[in-house]
Amino acid sequence: MLKNISNLQATLEKLLTTQQGMNAEGQVADYIPALASVSPNLMGVSVATIDGNVIGAGDYQVPFSIQSISKVFGLVMAMNRIGDELWQRVNMEPSGQPFNSIIQLEWEQGIPRNPFINAGALLVADVLTSHFSTSKLAFLTFMRSLAGDEHIYIDNNVYQSELAHGNRNAALAYLMKSFSNIQAEIPEVLSHYFTQCSVAMSCQQLAKSLLFLANKGLDPISQHNICTARDAHRVNAILSTSGMYDQSGEFAFSVGLPAKSGVGGGVIAIVPGYGVICAWSPPLNTFGNSVVGTNLVSGLAAELGLSIYH
Ligand code: DON
Repeated sequence: MLKNISNLQATLEKLLTTQQGMNAEGQVADYIPALASVSPNLMGVSVATIDGNVIGAGDYQVPFSIQSISKVFGLVMAMNRIGDELWQRVNMEPSGQPFNSIIQLEWEQGIPRNPFINAGALLVADVLTSHFSTSKLAFLTFMRSLAGDEHIYIDNNVYQSELAHGNRNAALAYLMKSFSNIQAEIPEVLSHYFTQCSVAMSCQQLAKSLLFLANKGLDPISQHNICTARDAHRVNAILSTSGMYDQSGEFAFSVGLPAKSGVGGGVIAIVPGYGVICAWSPPLNTFGNSVVGTNLVSGLAAELGLSIYH
């Protein structure tokens, strides 16, 4: 599987050429001006392997807004901090609803279906806000150390836009607080959540920073245990069922990798025992997943036989 790196480089470049023009099939996220202004023509893909190779093609070194991909890292930090107590407050089931839906949350007494819908990520943000004295700095420090790059930054323009258009997230957080499932003050929770969504990273940096999930929790570069093998398994399991929102079933059906998307146009996919794929292109399909990013991950998985369900 993917042993020959020069062949893999050629494969990535070939895949990118198949996607020229495909970005016209999606719409760049426009709920905030800072995302709407990103060029729809950018596209890149990177692969990092647990044996130390990091390669890419196209715009794979251009930073973009990681948005909901941040939910993976937030979840790992919260699991590390409070352990199994977390699963009393958030479930691990697919929601079958759009990522920012509020309806199910009331029916289910303020317990979010999973940590990758907005309600679940806000719950995780509450855990981080309540358990770190400076949770935003802790998050940024975590990202920088995983990617091995001190230059990773928070895009303040995106952050301010998110804050100004955050009423639905505020509603989700207040509803959970009414069920006593949020401990910190809501403005603090929202500020943490919007900060983590506003981190800017490239495909290459994201692929490197998630290697621990392909390697039973151990970062193969730093040799640090980022989480336990049991928790890496759990995160990959929820990524498989809920990482691509209400396209997760189709993605498992056709691709077969734990994956997560963000409205900035990024898609990450974990290949257990091998490495991480990150693809990016801003235009999104109706589920909120990058059209080209999804195609690139799907194309690579098909070409190389990467499905975990074989
Ligand atoms: O919560 C929000 O509204 C944004 N920060 C969107 C996060 C996101 O990427 C959702 N996913 N597809």
